[in-house]
Amino acid sequence: MNPAPSKPLSGPIVCVVGARPNFMKMAPILRAFAAHATPMPALLVHTGQHYDRNMSDRLFEDLRLPRPDINLEVGSGTHAVQTAEVMRRFEPVLDERQPSVVLVVGDVNSTLACTLVAVKKGVPVVHVEAGLRSYDRSMPEEINRLMTDQVADRLYTTERSAEANLLREGIAAERVCFVGNVMIDSLHDNKAQARNAGATLREHGCDPALLAHPKGYGVVTLHRPSNVDDPQALAGLINALADIARQLPLVFVLHPRTKSKLEAFGLAGLLDPKNIAVLPPQGYLEMLGLMAPATLVLTDSGGLQEETTALGVPCLTLRENTERPITVDEGTNTMVGRDVQAIRQGVAEILAGRGKRGRVPELWDGHAAERIADDLSRWLRGRAA
Ligand code: UD1
Repeated sequence: MNPAPSKPLSGPIVCVVGARPNFMKMAPILRAFAAHATPMPALLVHTGQHYDRNMSDRLFEDLRLPRPDINLEVGSGTHAVQTAEVMRRFEPVLDERQPSVVLVVGDVNSTLACTLVAVKKGVPVVHVEAGLRSYDRSMPEEINRLMTDQVADRLYTTERSAEANLLREGIAAERVCFVGNVMIDSLHDNKAQARNAGATLREHGCDPALLAHPKGYGVVTLHRPSNVDDPQALAGLINALADIARQLPLVFVLHPRTKSKLEAFGLAGLLDPKNIAVLPPQGYLEMLGLMAPATLVLTDSGGLQEETTALGVPCLTLRENTERPITVDEGTNTMVGRDVQAIRQGVAEILAGRGKRGRVPELWDGHAAERIADDLSRWLRGRAA
């Protein structure tokens, strides 16, 4: 069956969020739409891929995101089930609301699911944070990125390498627009409200004295399936962290996936509370407050690689590749993979004062969302004419 013809532009901009890393990208975009000179009515749809208070509601509050107009409440499931459920529940929203465009951010399952529904109904799709590639197809996010970009109508990029990736994949240059990084807009908007790291530790029954070590402290997050789903890989990383914590106290902010794996593999006991504070998922303001004064960050997250670059905090990324090469080329990021020696060496370099300070990349200036609003408004008017 052929897709329906493109629709005339009348309805709202349907903005989709699903999982935690989407929220900080969407908040500045919605604010920029609301403040734009020409009306840009938006409708916020939360797929419910992340649903815990800690993974979702609290971030909405911190980021001053409006309550979603619609929550699809899909919850967890295998990739197929989660993607299919989002698609099934999103389709009637488009039928009912007749949007002029669907705007998706990032690379989570909800991003791809909503994109597929929209394009097959002839509703144009706008992808924010397009063109990032790890060139590792075992990452579910890489598949989501590739598929979304192939069919999206307007692609907003955060760094120049992203445009080069898209052109290589046969995407026309006219569809691509370099706007900078909306994650950094959120960071600018909220940095002054960051919560005190000591207070965050105290709130969770951890001793804030841990932060007063002469070398400072490190912040750790881990959640990639490649790092946490395999017992051997996770055991290697946890042993390395336990070792590092003897020189530099660590604050380990535990993703639900990682928590359940640590318990299942019997590894939780390796985290010594004397030098590792284990916290549940934190709000946005708590994370900023923990990261900004840290000596270093150890992570496998995409977002933290960018935030540490913007904050000037050295970051060691526990992955073999990154879809955000500018954080390595210009920022504070170093890829150390899962190699325990490389991780130890990276930490030693930073503790010796040789950590990267980097510089802030082009257009990571806090105004990316305004550029998106300007371009999108022009683009929508152009299509309607
Ligand atoms: C998802 C995204 C990933 C993103 C990450 C940030 C995909 C493919 N992956 O991975 O890109 O970096 O979010 O967190 O979309 N869970 C809860 N509470 C929640 C949400 C999840 O307990 O609110 C549990 C689920 O039961 C599940 C596990 O955490 O077993 C993983 O959640 P899921 O959404 O499948 O993927 P993430 O690993 O969070």
